[in-house]
Amino acid sequence: MKTRITELFGIEHPIIQGGMHFVGLAELAAAVSNAGGLGIITGLTQKTPELLAREIARCREMTDKPFGVNLTFLPTVSSPDYPGYIKAIIDGGVKAVETAGNNPQKWLPVLKEAGIKVIHKCTSVRHSLKAEAIGCDAVSVDGFECGGHPGEDDIPNFILLPRAAEELKIPFVASGGMADGRSLVAALALGAEGMNMGTRFIATKEAPVHENVKQAIVAASELDTRLVMRPLRNTERVLTNEAVERLLQKERELGASIKFEDIIEEVAGVYPRIMQKGEMEAGAWSCGMVAGLIHDVPTVKELIDGIMAQAEGLIRQRLAGMLG
Ligand SMILES: Cc1cc2nc3c(=O)[nH]c(=O)nc-3n(C[C@H](O)[C@H](O)[C@H](O)COP(=O)(O)O)c2cc1C
Repeated sequence: MKTRITELFGIEHPIIQGGMHFVGLAELAAAVSNAGGLGIITGLTQKTPELLAREIARCREMTDKPFGVNLTFLPTVSSPDYPGYIKAIIDGGVKAVETAGNNPQKWLPVLKEAGIKVIHKCTSVRHSLKAEAIGCDAVSVDGFECGGHPGEDDIPNFILLPRAAEELKIPFVASGGMADGRSLVAALALGAEGMNMGTRFIATKEAPVHENVKQAIVAASELDTRLVMRPLRNTERVLTNEAVERLLQKERELGASIKFEDIIEEVAGVYPRIMQKGEMEAGAWSCGMVAGLIHDVPTVKELIDGIMAQAEGLIRQRLAGMLG
């Protein structure tokens, strides 16, 4: 399948693995790239630029295909060493960067000068147009269904994607709620040039996370995610557990006066405990509604080959057949 996204990144299939904190390590990124998609290492999971450089080198040992790095621009006071991370990306010869969070404008000239293609993740048409205007090569349009931060507009992909198609000139991928060949064909029909998946890639053999995390996703239904931190305007879609329900209780009780410090126990520093140690009640961790469509833990190659075969079958048989 050839689309503007496969052409842009030099990949075989129009499937991207979105950056995921404590999941997007070299093992997963390499597996996705080896299977013909675009694997992404999560920059900030590596505590220093030196560690990111090492992770990029490790990925390079496992694949000779293109892969990318995610840079999430957080609204934090103590800003990470972004110039250092960008230097590690450039020196490591990485040619694709997924940016997310705040506007990446400040960092675009140096990335572009190094010949790096930038795909910015946006949760609205307005932010997508901004990304286009500042010179991003593509956008990842992240609908309300998505795991992680869906923004504050709550527009699901059935509306958001065709709206993006109405306005954007640069190519975009559909993100949020994508799981299989049906998702890919639907995304293409709505105007996208491919899809980005997060949660689905966690439930794969190669994802370097504790088995408990994979089983929690397989066991979850589409009813099991919750939106936390909405009162802080930092909404995150997470899988429910005791810590999440406690957090939501605090949000109800404290109302508009709630501060980040009130919920720090449920959200700060929980990712290593969950992803590496499998302590599933440790706190809130991102997970999409798409968990309801995830029933197995295949290898990344089985997953991607299955998606492409299903998509081709849908297009050639089901859809073409309807035209008689
Ligand atoms: C566990 C987890 C951690 C994530 N961490 C990040 C992150 O650090 N930076 C980022 O830009 N997106 C992050 N995301 C969002 C994903 O890259 C992707 O946009 C999202 O998962 C798509 O929705 P889906 O889960 O329905 O496929 C994370 C998602 C999950 C599930």
